[in-house]
Amino acid sequence: MSPEERIKELRELLHLHNHNYYVLNNPTISDFEFDALMRELQLLENENPQLFDANSPTQRVGSDITKEFRQVVHKYPMLSLGNTYSKAEVADFYERVRRALNEDFEICCELKFDGTSISLTYIDGSLVRAVTRGDGEKGDDVTANVRTIRSVPLVLKGEGYPREFEIRGEVLMPWAVFERLNSERAAQGEQLFANPRNAASGTLKLQDSSVVAQRCLDAYLYYLLGEQLPAEGHYDNLQAAASWGFKVSDTMCRCSTLDEVFDYIDRMDVLRKSLPVATDGIVLKVDSLRQQRHLGFTAKSPRWAIAYKFQAERAVTRLNEVTYQVGRTGVVTPVANLDPVQLSGTVVKRASLHNADIIEKLDLHIGDFVFVEKGGEIIPKITGVDVDARLLVGPKVEFVTRCPECGTPLVRVDGEAAHYCPNEKECPPQIKGKLEHFVSRDAMNIDSIGPETIEMFYALGLLKSVADFYSIESADLLFLPRLGTKSIENIIAGVASSLAVPFERVLFALGIRFVGVTVAKRLARAFGNIDALMSATLEQLMAVDDIGERIATAVKQFFADEANRTLIERLRAAGVQFEIAEEVNEGRTHKLKGQTIVISGVFSQHSRDEYKDIIERNGGKNVGSVSRSTSFILAGENMGPAKLEKAQKLGVRLVSETEFLQMLQDD
Ligand code: IVH
Repeated sequence: MSPEERIKELRELLHLHNHNYYVLNNPTISDFEFDALMRELQLLENENPQLFDANSPTQRVGSDITKEFRQVVHKYPMLSLGNTYSKAEVADFYERVRRALNEDFEICCELKFDGTSISLTYIDGSLVRAVTRGDGEKGDDVTANVRTIRSVPLVLKGEGYPREFEIRGEVLMPWAVFERLNSERAAQGEQLFANPRNAASGTLKLQDSSVVAQRCLDAYLYYLLGEQLPAEGHYDNLQAAASWGFKVSDTMCRCSTLDEVFDYIDRMDVLRKSLPVATDGIVLKVDSLRQQRHLGFTAKSPRWAIAYKFQAERAVTRLNEVTYQVGRTGVVTPVANLDPVQLSGTVVKRASLHNADIIEKLDLHIGDFVFVEKGGEIIPKITGVDVDARLLVGPKVEFVTRCPECGTPLVRVDGEAAHYCPNEKECPPQIKGKLEHFVSRDAMNIDSIGPETIEMFYALGLLKSVADFYSIESADLLFLPRLGTKSIENIIAGVASSLAVPFERVLFALGIRFVGVTVAKRLARAFGNIDALMSATLEQLMAVDDIGERIATAVKQFFADEANRTLIERLRAAGVQFEIAEEVNEGRTHKLKGQTIVISGVFSQHSRDEYKDIIERNGGKNVGSVSRSTSFILAGENMGPAKLEKAQKLGVRLVSETEFLQMLQDD
């Protein structure tokens, strides 16, 4: 068999197994076998770059950075749906349709998925374009990102699909992925996504499709458009789409009476709570395409379809008190303390009030009856006040002016909604927050010490600063309640083994403002040890990749503080790593110092990620797009035509893989 034939065979095989796994939830081979086939295909494609295909299963991992998304005008505008919130309104819709049609009709009922809508175009069975809704008239071309969604077929199977058609649906982030992503973001001190919908649409707009690939998005399709559709009914068309490999919800149902529609709504309101993705209602569509044409559209939405929105789960309860929480960075968050109330299966006693502006907008008084909603958000929130129920209320809620923990007057930075407590050295929750951050997984990873232990040690005066972890002795702990000998041993051992944690993580553990995992890594590599970092000037700090003035100033301020310098000395004396490890340094050169390099195309000796690493290790900077300041392009096979054109226009040099590797060999 020729390589070309084998490539074709492997692509078909991998598309099939991908469909079995991600669409049908029914894998027929092991992950190991799947990976082996994928590796074989990758190897053959590397050896035969002339056979590159953007829809090959190997392309699901994503690659190039897209600086700007191209705008595409929708062939058929992407309309929205009229909303209804009660069964009475659904009955009105049903009646309107009945009168206008004056003949029998069926309503196709389906779930309303709560993600971000997408329109996919297929020509000759291959995905050619994926466009976001945008303003309904034109959207962004996000094809590279959508190719990474495993449940979207890149090449169709079966038969009977039109030569060219569009199919629309919803891109979703499953609950489990959303929760994992948010807990990772919390650990990094990054802002959380409010709900899976925002997370899905944010992810779809990322510029690096390889990051999109890791976010495990999913897509359900619900609307087929084109000139030669296989069937006369919407339901049958979607069943055909399913047979071509699309993920179509198996909860769709044709109803021929209003009672059947109501029954469907009731069933789904229960079922939806156990689904892996978010839904916010039901969509009702007249099934026959002929009847749809007869009913037509208003300016904004079809007359043949309507959405029924599930009641946002809401409860009414009494506001007893507003308390304030102070975080590690000093941000003060108001929290509503409520009479316990049952809401979507849990008892809610507290809800976030976010900031002073929100309290003001709600005109909140103690004793008010407030509406609490859970929606897709993680923490319940207060959405309003039942003003009619306001008889005898207490005082108006005024945001505190002093830190509830340490009494320091709060500050509010212009243009920011949050209030801060500036007393970072002595304010207890800020100290405890810093201690918790120090032991966290990405920092010193002392998992034998959790928040409760920290609370207890802090209360006993055993821990005041992160350096105190290294002075704890088992004798100090022997008589403490709730600590057995095994726990004590684990604590001592955990602290001892943290001495081996590499410098870049120590730097992250210090909790310097704006210094997250990546920035810490950059700084550690650029300066090599803590002394060089402490004496670096603002300019030297800003010369490091991706370090701007904001971060550089925060680093300078941190080390300018006498107390922090003492802290570093205590940690140094304890044996904490303040120098980059030899193995990290190994293989490092300055051969590419000052060079800005773009990687493009397919390579045979190393993967794209390996080349990124090689560039960094040799002092170069890898960037996504070609510009005047690009030093050269590391060009593999089948380099993107847009990049090639830009390179030629700007006169940027192309360096082949072999030339590049040779460059690093030379002394
Ligand atoms: S049909 C012309 N079906 O809801 C009708 N939309 O408010 C096209 N949506 O933008 C839409 N699930 O993003 C349809 N089963 C479903 C849906 C659905 C979610 C979204 C879609 C649309 C919005 C309309």
